Amino acid sequence: MTHLPYRDPSLSPAERVDDLLARMTLPEKVGQMLQLNAMDDLTEIVVDRLAGSILHASPARVVEAIELARGTRLGIPLLVADDAIHGHGFFPGATVFPSQLGMAGTWDLDLVERAARATAVEAAATGLHWTFSPVLCLTRDLRWGRVNETFGEDPHLVGELGAAMVRGYQGEGLTDPTAVLATAKHFAGYSETQGGRDATEADLSPRKLRSWFLPPFERVVREGVRTVMIGYQAIDGVPITTSRWLLQGVLKDEWGFDGTLVTDWDNVGRMVWEQFVSPDHAHASAAAVDAGNDVIMATPTFFEGAQEAVADGRIDVARLDDAVRRILRLKVDLGLFEDPRAPVAERIEAVVGSAEHRDLALDVARGSLVLLENDGTLPLVSTGSTDGLRVAVVGPNADDPHAQLGDWAGASGQVSWIRDGHPRELTETVLDGLRAVAPSSWEVTYARGANIVELGPDPDGTHFPDGQPRPPAALPAPSDPVLLDEAEEAARAADVVVAVLGDEVALAGEGRSTATLELQGGQVELLERLVATGTPVVVVLVASKPLVLPDAARRAAALVHAANPGMRGGRAVAELLLGLIEPTGRLPISYALHAGQQPVFYHQVRGQHGTRYADLTQRPPYVFGEGLSYTSVEYSDLGLDAEDVARDGVVRGRVTVTNTGSRPAVETVQVYVSDKVTSVTWADRELTTFRRVPLAPGESVAVEVEVPAADCTIVDAGGRRVVEPGEFELLVGPSSRREDLLVAPFRIS
Ligand code: NOJ
Repeated sequence: MTHLPYRDPSLSPAERVDDLLARMTLPEKVGQMLQLNAMDDLTEIVVDRLAGSILHASPARVVEAIELARGTRLGIPLLVADDAIHGHGFFPGATVFPSQLGMAGTWDLDLVERAARATAVEAAATGLHWTFSPVLCLTRDLRWGRVNETFGEDPHLVGELGAAMVRGYQGEGLTDPTAVLATAKHFAGYSETQGGRDATEADLSPRKLRSWFLPPFERVVREGVRTVMIGYQAIDGVPITTSRWLLQGVLKDEWGFDGTLVTDWDNVGRMVWEQFVSPDHAHASAAAVDAGNDVIMATPTFFEGAQEAVADGRIDVARLDDAVRRILRLKVDLGLFEDPRAPVAERIEAVVGSAEHRDLALDVARGSLVLLENDGTLPLVSTGSTDGLRVAVVGPNADDPHAQLGDWAGASGQVSWIRDGHPRELTETVLDGLRAVAPSSWEVTYARGANIVELGPDPDGTHFPDGQPRPPAALPAPSDPVLLDEAEEAARAADVVVAVLGDEVALAGEGRSTATLELQGGQVELLERLVATGTPVVVVLVASKPLVLPDAARRAAALVHAANPGMRGGRAVAELLLGLIEPTGRLPISYALHAGQQPVFYHQVRGQHGTRYADLTQRPPYVFGEGLSYTSVEYSDLGLDAEDVARDGVVRGRVTVTNTGSRPAVETVQVYVSDKVTSVTWADRELTTFRRVPLAPGESVAVEVEVPAADCTIVDAGGRRVVEPGEFELLVGPSSRREDLLVAPFRIS
């Protein structure tokens, strides 16, 4: 057999890529850039359009596609990609972790890294090489459908958690057979929606991008993320897909990113049929290539469009070659020419949904729960006998496995092969969890109580212009008197009610933003009726995002934020309610009191007339960083080593945290910095670092705090990130609320 240098692993990756590139025809190069939907005809994708990559391949089709690629002229292996974003959610029986928003509630970098590692191990066994995770968008408007996919609202926390996931996915490096490529998405500013509507034009200046939206991406580029996905939206008239400034200027030139860019779904086509900035596919393809995109997701006509644009001289062939090189490089680095990393049955059997991974999912779920209110009703098992306790478990999300897993998992709708979701027995709902952990003398009853939505056809038709199915319209379900009566009766007959409320997948996700934030359907009436019985009501929110809570929630005995807690989430909730574990989660995102109170993220720019609306407080009910323990923790004696710090110095100090109660805690000590006077308007305070500190009952710990002066930055009027010497405050405490924070002044000179 002839010696083909590109197949020779003893040569350097660059030599192999150069050799292969020199052998490729134009259609082969353009095809290599395509990433097509493997739910469509595979022969057309791999043989006719020569696609270099596929996404959304069912377990059976992965094998078929890899084989088809092997048979093409040059036998270039396929890159297989999908959204394994909180576990390998579309692989039947895989471990599903809490949503990203849920994971963020742990504030635990090690735990989140381990969840990503486990996901990579499972995904790699099934033939996946690339996951479209993590999401680094900052939540701004809670009506946005994709809040659940974010790590919340704070750039520092988002960046650190994102970096942890990148470490987890990419493991020890791409030669590790359990490594998968991570993707930082959606670059950048996608979450700055208008009215919460998905993928609208984002009203952002370059300075605002640099201030808050870009830092998490820069953080994960430093962590070595290999791919970046380009958002759908335009900023100031320019679709990000064509923003040379962001893609070439910032990402590649400034930050030195030398990995691979992938567009989001049909970004190139959207320029023609949705944003109307390109007359045809040839123009759109040229603009995308020119700006620096490499992999073109789900635009089959890029195949013809890009070739036409090359023929017309509108695409610079050197840039096209650069894109193909970046793609081939990933394939060489993953070792796909030697081993296409097809699914391996024994590995699948051994690792997918393994006991070890399911235990980890339970740990993550435990850490993700945030206790927001507690009048002492929780934990249910504390002192004294609870023999014979009667617990009524009520609510539409008490026993709904789909709501518990959330978006991008099982039956959430993106893929065709798992329409009914994961095997039911793999998901422990709150009802399952309480039945499993309650002492045998307890009586656990269940009543659904209400429905959330009713699905109906979208009046605008069943499909979008690009042929994608439109999600059904989700209309509030009417209150059901029979369900309500059953629930009320169950509550009256119980000693405590656990009301599991929230939203469902029809109200979350891409293109599924909500105009309102209230509990939908019969839920408000249900909660009113439950609270009115006088039986203490513990509200558990299984929801894709912070919702606006009705008055009745304020009369509840306790409130737990659970996000979409994943397969083991119901058990974690049950353990928390009983007091078998301690509440350690902290909110990564603020709640609004009313949809019109938004935005409620804590690091807003200073300067407004007054501090409230005429008709409503501006104070959000629960804020970033907040969360209770079953004990009490006090902060005292914040002190700094020196109040004067040089620009290249470090602000050093310590604070004492004391567990003043009788149960253990893990306290998340949050450190914010406030720059007193800035050359341009800026946030009053920003999270700069945090530490999770275990505290035994009665224990007091002096926690060291260190903030490099170089981290005390703002972005000036010229868009430069700078330290402005002057007066600052170090703020340390248990939440982002100013009144919860101890203050120590310092000066940078
Ligand atoms: C569109 C979504 O915006 C993106 O997050 C996802 O990774 C791709 N589709 C692929 O499913």
